[in-house]
Amino acid sequence: MNTSTKSYLGLEKLEVFSIRHWTKRTFSFQCKRPKNLRFRSGEFVMIGLENGDKPLLRAYSIASPSWDEILEFYSIKVSDGPLTSRLQNLTKGDSIFLKPKSVGTLVLDALIPSQRLILFSTGTGIAPFLSVIRDPETYEKFDQVILTHTCRYKDELEYGKKVYEKTNNDNLLSEIINGKLKLISTTTREDTQLMGRMTEWLQNGKFKINTGKDLNLESDRVMICGSLNMLQDHKNICLQKGMIEGSNSNPGHFVIEKAFVD
Ligand code: A2P
Repeated sequence: MNTSTKSYLGLEKLEVFSIRHWTKRTFSFQCKRPKNLRFRSGEFVMIGLENGDKPLLRAYSIASPSWDEILEFYSIKVSDGPLTSRLQNLTKGDSIFLKPKSVGTLVLDALIPSQRLILFSTGTGIAPFLSVIRDPETYEKFDQVILTHTCRYKDELEYGKKVYEKTNNDNLLSEIINGKLKLISTTTREDTQLMGRMTEWLQNGKFKINTGKDLNLESDRVMICGSLNMLQDHKNICLQKGMIEGSNSNPGHFVIEKAFVD
């Protein structure tokens, strides 16, 4: 792919400076954050590629935190996906287009303050939470932060684990986090140390065993990101606990958002 010479009204052209392929189905890439993009950790933006008169854009959660100069995205590769089939061939120096306006509900502002923040994710749904766990404000607002990531296979957990490690090894962040952050990675179709869907864990007691406490309305606030079925099942569990769904204008006990791009 070559650097695009095209420009579109209202879109920023960003140079990609790093790409990493994590599995046959997933990759991450980084660009420099444009000065006119301000966002809250957990939000998403529209990004895409040149496509004649109209660019091809899709919603992507930003995986980097709001203070970072780097803009990072995590994507699946779909062989017949109009955008991801092309994005997966990005190489260093290529350009992507970005609409510098962020939105989303997976933000701290949409939750009523409490003690534990629980971030349930599957697949590429981990992306917005990798932004949230690297935001100092998360630890000002919560005493404990639990990120769960469930994938079919072990190698799909790697990206989340690497960012988690990097976060804990960062001098400044580790001081702010101060032991408050825990990552629980599970697989469902390959043998690993921890196995099973989180919806099952919440029902069979494994969630309590691994986090110290059952999910509950008093101490817990929840963010959920994954497939539509996953969102629905987690949402039902939250509703059964008496939790109310939050939004930017009306903070609640839990918030949900579909993992984008398929
Ligand atoms: P499973 O292997 O049992 O289907 P997918 O790629 O289909 O989105 O799945 C990603 C991960 O999310 C898989 O580990 C999958 O488990 C899990 N998953 C799929 N549907 C649900 C659901 N309704 N609730 C919780 N986890 C789910």
